[in-house]
Amino acid sequence: MKANHGEMGVRSWRLDCHVVAGDHDVAAGDLRRSLTASTPTISPRWFYDDAGCALFERITNLPEYYQTRTEQRLLDARMDAVVEAIRPTELVEIGSGSATKTRAILGAMSRAGDLHRYIPFDISPGAITQSASALAVSYPGLRVHGVAGDFSRQLGKIPRRPAGGTRLVAFLGSTLGNLEPAQRRSMVRRLARLLGPGDALLMGTDLAHDTAVLVNAYNDALGVTAEFNRNIIRHVNRAFGGDADPDAFVHVARWNTRASRIEMHLRASRAVDWNLLGLDIRVHVPEGRTIRTEISCKFTSGEVAALYADAGLTPISWDEDALGRYAISVAIKD
Ligand code: AVJ
Repeated sequence: MKANHGEMGVRSWRLDCHVVAGDHDVAAGDLRRSLTASTPTISPRWFYDDAGCALFERITNLPEYYQTRTEQRLLDARMDAVVEAIRPTELVEIGSGSATKTRAILGAMSRAGDLHRYIPFDISPGAITQSASALAVSYPGLRVHGVAGDFSRQLGKIPRRPAGGTRLVAFLGSTLGNLEPAQRRSMVRRLARLLGPGDALLMGTDLAHDTAVLVNAYNDALGVTAEFNRNIIRHVNRAFGGDADPDAFVHVARWNTRASRIEMHLRASRAVDWNLLGLDIRVHVPEGRTIRTEISCKFTSGEVAALYADAGLTPISWDEDALGRYAISVAIKD
């Protein structure tokens, strides 16, 4: 744990940044298995190195990618009412990224006069450091306690909920859609375990709607999503001593009707022999074959309600945009 205090002589903010190390071997084992499976995949967690975080920021501003701005508008419109109902004293945000949307939540908490602590959890330590210090400056007196880790297994690194306080856990950006159905249920259950009585879970979920609009959101005209997708090769090369040429792969995004999801793949435009020294493997990708890099499932309100119920939570609100593309919802632990 390291503590940084505000500069310029005034102790204006405090940042406790607990960066979790020692995760490399587990991550390596996961990646070795997924790359050598009969349908090779790379977990989307490998999108988010510093370059990938910057590319994702650009995606969120693309005209085709309606998700982020729709969620932002819903939060701006609804957070005062949500905060009024929950009265949270702290916010835990899973996958906080650049924490742009966080300001809608913290702003509402601060207006209600109950804002004490913010706990951003993200795979990217750089993103936490940047956003946490900026937010601590915007909200004087706010305690920021960042945790860098993989949400699929390190939620236990999140500090205990405050005695006498109320916690709001936010899982935004439809990141839930990156998970297969069984993993989704387990994720919402693990999020529910971060809650005590009266605490709440806020989720943002992309909805199943016009498939042309959905496919376009992952095939932008400028090719930013394609670059984001190829960057995963660069990140894995760097992390595990790999030698693949990102430009040997073509970005593919397609709708899978049966599973109600967008899938992103990288298709080899020529045969690729990918040596990964750090994983002690060589992955052969024949010309035309793909590596799947992301699933992004699109939900119905019923599916989200079932996830809350399965985790023992009671839904209290559901708000979607006028076009029925995106929803934010809240559930509480009794
Ligand atoms: C942040 C995982 C929700 O699936 O829409 C954006 C990531 N991938 N464009 C999504 C993403 C391609 C995004 N999530």
